[in-house]
Amino acid sequence: MSRRPATPKPTISIVGAGRLATFLAAALRDAGFTITEIVARDSPRSLRSARTLAARVGAQPVTASSAALDATLLWLCVPDREIRAAASALARNLTANRAAAKKGGSRFAFHSSGALLSRELAPLRKAGTAVASVHPLMTFVAGAHPSLAGVPFALEGDPAATRVARRIVGEIGGESFLLPASRKAAYHAWATMTSPLLLAFLVTLEETARAAGLTPHDARRKSLPIIRQTLANYERLGPARSFSGPLVRGDAETVAKHLAVLEKHAGASKVYVALAQAALRGLPVKNRDGLSRLLRVR
Ligand SMILES: NC(=O)c1ccc[n+]([C@@H]2O[C@H](COP(=O)([O-])OP(=O)(O)OC[C@H]3O[C@@H](n4cnc5c(N)ncnc54)[C@H](OP(=O)(O)O)[C@@H]3O)[C@@H](O)[C@H]2O)c1
Repeated sequence: MSRRPATPKPTISIVGAGRLATFLAAALRDAGFTITEIVARDSPRSLRSARTLAARVGAQPVTASSAALDATLLWLCVPDREIRAAASALARNLTANRAAAKKGGSRFAFHSSGALLSRELAPLRKAGTAVASVHPLMTFVAGAHPSLAGVPFALEGDPAATRVARRIVGEIGGESFLLPASRKAAYHAWATMTSPLLLAFLVTLEETARAAGLTPHDARRKSLPIIRQTLANYERLGPARSFSGPLVRGDAETVAKHLAVLEKHAGASKVYVALAQAALRGLPVKNRDGLSRLLRVR
């Protein structure tokens, strides 16, 4: 029985050398993809970062105008506000290369913004590439090395590009899913709550602990056992069965004391009230009427 030869892995050019690019380039290289170029802005600082990353993954550091752009895929890992300008610069080069018939050039282009649509890459689409937005629901910061196993990647864009994205995401351990363009803003609001706003909650927690006489460092250390257990319960039991504290008991007097002490901490008080109101909406709360009166917009 004759077998079809496996489609070769697409070669990849990464644009940018920041947090996502650094992590992604290594993950792709480790999964057997060839990274051909790291594309930087034409500034000494940008090129320095690109050189460091390129050396790590065996690629060439280049700028948008000097790049060969002969990788199958261009993966833009630049800040959202830069995607359109970077795509235009790359498209100019790609179009010139194609016109000179030097080489075929890249056939696919991705960006990784969770908020913007693939149409941000319109200049590259016009230059003949199929485009997609490919957003990993994961946080990448310097000094952390998250596993990509099971990480969801939201895909949106041209079918040919999302097909390639699905394959690559699978090979680096992620789980892709298609997102309709009309849902992307809501998707990113959710994504922002999973990590950035969770951290905003945690710094508010530190602020509240300060009122109890703890330093932020001590607050973090003392809070982590219960936070970890809450997340483990949330994973295993779901939100309702993980819910404890004065609201589930309907203890309005205790909540009133919290609100009184937080009066001197306006920011923390607002967060407390907003979250307690969220508990009234989505969690099993006793003495709902009494608590609702207490928490009514203050
Ligand atoms: N970090 C995360 O947790 C995360 C998670 C999911 C998705 N994302 C998405 O990934 C993208 C990048 O985010 P990031 O956090 O990695 O940002 P970042 O750390 O600020 O890195 C951005 C990189 O892009 C470079 N750059 C900026 N403009 C450029 C241009 N015109 N041409 C070439 N390179 C350019 C920057 O270099 P210079 O400024 O030195 O030129 C820097 O190396 C964003 O779309 C973001 O939404 C990030």
